[in-house]
Amino acid sequence: MTTYAIHEQTLADYQAMPTKDLVEFIVENFHEKHRAQLPELIILARKIEEVHHDHNACPTGLNELLQTVYQELESHMLKEEQILFPMLAGGIFPQGPIAVMEEEHEHHEQLIEQLQALTNQCQPPTDACGSWLTLYTQLADFIFDLHQHIALENTVLFKQPAAAAGHHGNGHCCGGCQ
Ligand SMILES: [Fe+2]
Ligand SMILES: [Fe+2]
Repeated sequence: MTTYAIHEQTLADYQAMPTKDLVEFIVENFHEKHRAQLPELIILARKIEEVHHDHNACPTGLNELLQTVYQELESHMLKEEQILFPMLAGGIFPQGPIAVMEEEHEHHEQLIEQLQALTNQCQPPTDACGSWLTLYTQLADFIFDLHQHIALENTVLFKQPAAAAGHHGNGHCCGGCQ
Protein backbone atom coordinates (compact mmCIF):
# COMPACT_ATOMS: atom_id res chain seq x y z
CA MET A 1 0.00 0.00 0.00
CA THR A 2 1.23 3.50 -0.81
CA THR A 3 2.14 5.59 2.21
CA TYR A 4 0.93 9.16 1.97
CA ALA A 5 3.09 11.71 3.71
CA ILE A 6 2.29 15.16 4.96
CA HIS A 7 4.61 17.91 3.68
CA GLU A 8 7.59 18.11 6.04
CA GLN A 9 7.17 21.74 7.01
CA THR A 10 3.47 21.26 7.69
CA LEU A 11 4.27 18.12 9.67
CA ALA A 12 6.56 20.12 11.98
CA ASP A 13 3.79 22.71 12.43
CA TYR A 14 1.29 20.02 13.40
CA GLN A 15 3.78 18.35 15.74
CA ALA A 16 4.26 21.67 17.54
CA MET A 17 0.52 22.04 18.21
CA PRO A 18 -0.84 21.04 21.64
CA THR A 19 -2.87 17.80 21.28
CA LYS A 20 -6.10 19.55 22.31
CA ASP A 21 -5.67 22.11 19.49
CA LEU A 22 -4.76 19.42 16.96
CA VAL A 23 -7.90 17.46 17.82
CA GLU A 24 -10.04 20.57 17.25
CA PHE A 25 -8.22 21.27 13.99
CA ILE A 26 -8.86 17.75 12.69
CA VAL A 27 -12.56 17.80 13.59
CA GLU A 28 -13.11 21.21 11.99
CA ASN A 29 -10.95 20.77 8.90
CA PHE A 30 -11.38 17.09 8.08
CA HIS A 31 -14.38 15.53 9.86
CA GLU A 32 -16.74 18.42 9.12
CA LYS A 33 -15.36 18.73 5.59
CA HIS A 34 -16.00 15.04 4.83
CA ARG A 35 -19.54 15.45 6.20
CA ALA A 36 -20.09 18.19 3.61
CA GLN A 37 -18.23 16.45 0.76
CA LEU A 38 -19.82 13.00 0.83
CA PRO A 39 -23.54 13.89 0.51
CA GLU A 40 -22.70 16.09 -2.51
CA LEU A 41 -20.64 13.30 -4.09
CA ILE A 42 -23.46 10.79 -3.54
CA ILE A 43 -26.02 13.05 -5.27
CA LEU A 44 -23.69 13.68 -8.23
CA ALA A 45 -22.76 9.99 -8.58
CA ARG A 46 -26.44 8.98 -8.58
CA LYS A 47 -27.13 11.54 -11.30
CA ILE A 48 -24.25 10.39 -13.52
CA GLU A 49 -25.14 6.71 -13.09
CA GLU A 50 -28.76 7.45 -14.06
CA VAL A 51 -28.03 9.69 -17.05
CA HIS A 52 -24.98 7.86 -18.46
CA HIS A 53 -25.75 4.22 -17.59
CA ASP A 54 -25.16 3.17 -21.21
CA HIS A 55 -21.75 4.89 -21.47
CA ASN A 56 -18.88 2.39 -21.32
CA ALA A 57 -17.00 4.57 -18.78
CA CYS A 58 -20.02 4.97 -16.48
CA PRO A 59 -18.88 4.39 -12.86
CA THR A 60 -21.63 1.87 -12.12
CA GLY A 61 -21.92 1.27 -8.38
CA LEU A 62 -20.14 4.51 -7.38
CA ASN A 63 -23.22 5.91 -5.62
CA GLU A 64 -23.51 2.73 -3.54
CA LEU A 65 -19.78 2.64 -2.75
CA LEU A 66 -19.83 6.29 -1.66
CA GLN A 67 -22.75 5.54 0.68
CA THR A 68 -20.67 2.76 2.25
CA VAL A 69 -17.71 5.15 2.61
CA TYR A 70 -19.99 7.77 4.22
CA GLN A 71 -21.47 5.30 6.73
CA GLU A 72 -18.11 3.79 7.67
CA LEU A 73 -16.37 7.15 7.95
CA GLU A 74 -19.19 8.68 9.99
CA SER A 75 -19.12 5.77 12.45
CA HIS A 76 -15.30 6.02 12.67
CA MET A 77 -15.29 9.80 13.18
CA LEU A 78 -17.96 9.58 15.89
CA LYS A 79 -15.85 7.04 17.80
CA GLU A 80 -12.88 9.39 17.55
CA GLU A 81 -14.87 12.44 18.61
CA GLN A 82 -16.77 10.81 21.46
CA ILE A 83 -14.21 8.39 22.89
CA LEU A 84 -10.62 8.64 21.68
CA PHE A 85 -10.08 12.35 21.06
CA PRO A 86 -11.20 13.47 24.55
CA MET A 87 -8.69 10.96 26.01
CA LEU A 88 -5.86 12.19 23.78
CA ALA A 89 -6.70 15.81 24.60
CA GLY A 90 -6.48 14.86 28.29
CA GLY A 91 -2.99 13.39 27.81
CA ILE A 92 -4.04 9.71 27.75
CA PHE A 93 -2.91 7.64 24.73
CA PRO A 94 -4.74 4.26 25.01
CA GLN A 95 -2.94 1.79 22.75
CA GLY A 96 -5.91 -0.56 22.18
CA PRO A 97 -8.37 2.03 20.85
CA ILE A 98 -5.58 3.69 18.82
CA ALA A 99 -4.78 0.34 17.18
CA VAL A 100 -8.48 -0.12 16.30
CA MET A 101 -8.61 3.33 14.66
CA GLU A 102 -5.41 2.57 12.71
CA GLU A 103 -6.94 -0.68 11.43
CA GLU A 104 -10.04 1.24 10.32
CA HIS A 105 -7.76 3.71 8.50
CA GLU A 106 -6.31 0.79 6.54
CA HIS A 107 -9.83 -0.20 5.55
CA HIS A 108 -10.53 3.40 4.46
CA GLU A 109 -7.45 3.23 2.24
CA GLN A 110 -8.87 0.06 0.66
CA LEU A 111 -12.17 1.87 0.00
CA ILE A 112 -10.21 4.69 -1.66
CA GLU A 113 -8.53 2.14 -3.94
CA GLN A 114 -11.99 0.85 -4.92
CA LEU A 115 -13.16 4.43 -5.65
CA GLN A 116 -10.12 4.98 -7.85
CA ALA A 117 -10.56 1.68 -9.69
CA LEU A 118 -14.21 2.46 -10.41
CA THR A 119 -13.45 5.94 -11.79
CA ASN A 120 -10.28 5.27 -13.81
CA GLN A 121 -8.30 7.13 -11.10
CA CYS A 122 -10.81 10.03 -11.26
CA GLN A 123 -10.09 10.51 -14.99
CA PRO A 124 -13.33 11.28 -16.87
CA PRO A 125 -13.84 10.17 -20.49
CA THR A 126 -13.13 12.77 -23.18
CA ASP A 127 -16.87 13.27 -23.87
CA ALA A 128 -17.84 13.69 -20.19
CA CYS A 129 -20.46 16.33 -19.39
CA GLY A 130 -19.93 19.13 -16.87
CA SER A 131 -21.50 17.20 -13.98
CA TRP A 132 -19.26 14.20 -14.62
CA LEU A 133 -16.17 16.46 -14.62
CA THR A 134 -17.35 18.08 -11.37
CA LEU A 135 -17.96 14.67 -9.79
CA TYR A 136 -14.44 13.43 -10.53
CA THR A 137 -12.79 16.72 -9.51
CA GLN A 138 -14.66 16.69 -6.19
CA LEU A 139 -13.94 12.98 -5.70
CA ALA A 140 -10.20 13.59 -6.26
CA ASP A 141 -10.35 16.43 -3.69
CA PHE A 142 -12.10 14.14 -1.18
CA ILE A 143 -9.52 11.38 -1.69
CA PHE A 144 -6.67 13.86 -1.22
CA ASP A 145 -8.26 15.21 1.97
CA LEU A 146 -8.91 11.74 3.38
CA HIS A 147 -5.29 10.71 2.74
CA GLN A 148 -4.08 13.82 4.58
CA HIS A 149 -6.56 13.21 7.42
CA ILE A 150 -5.39 9.62 7.90
CA ALA A 151 -1.69 10.54 7.67
CA LEU A 152 -2.10 13.34 10.21
CA GLU A 153 -3.78 11.04 12.73
CA ASN A 154 -1.40 8.09 12.21
CA THR A 155 1.85 10.03 12.17
CA VAL A 156 1.15 12.91 14.58
CA LEU A 157 -2.02 12.75 16.65
CA PHE A 158 -1.77 9.10 17.73
CA LYS A 159 1.90 9.43 18.70
CA GLN A 160 2.36 10.37 22.31
CA PRO A 161 4.35 13.61 22.71
CA ALA A 162 7.88 12.90 24.02
CA ALA A 163 7.31 15.04 27.12
CA ALA A 164 4.22 13.07 28.14
CA ALA A 165 5.82 9.72 27.27
CA GLY A 166 8.66 10.56 29.70
CA HIS A 167 6.25 10.10 32.61
CA HIS A 168 6.26 6.37 31.93
CA GLY A 169 9.96 6.11 32.72
CA ASN A 170 11.94 5.85 35.97
CA GLY A 171 10.94 2.23 36.60
CA HIS A 172 7.32 3.18 37.29
CA CYS A 173 5.80 2.19 33.97
CA CYS A 174 2.00 2.17 34.05
CA GLY A 175 1.83 -0.26 31.13
CA GLY A 176 0.31 2.35 28.81
CA CYS A 177 3.48 2.55 26.73
CA GLN A 178 3.29 -1.07 25.52
FE1 LIG B 1 -10.43 11.47 12.08
FE1 LIG C 1 -9.38 8.44 11.93
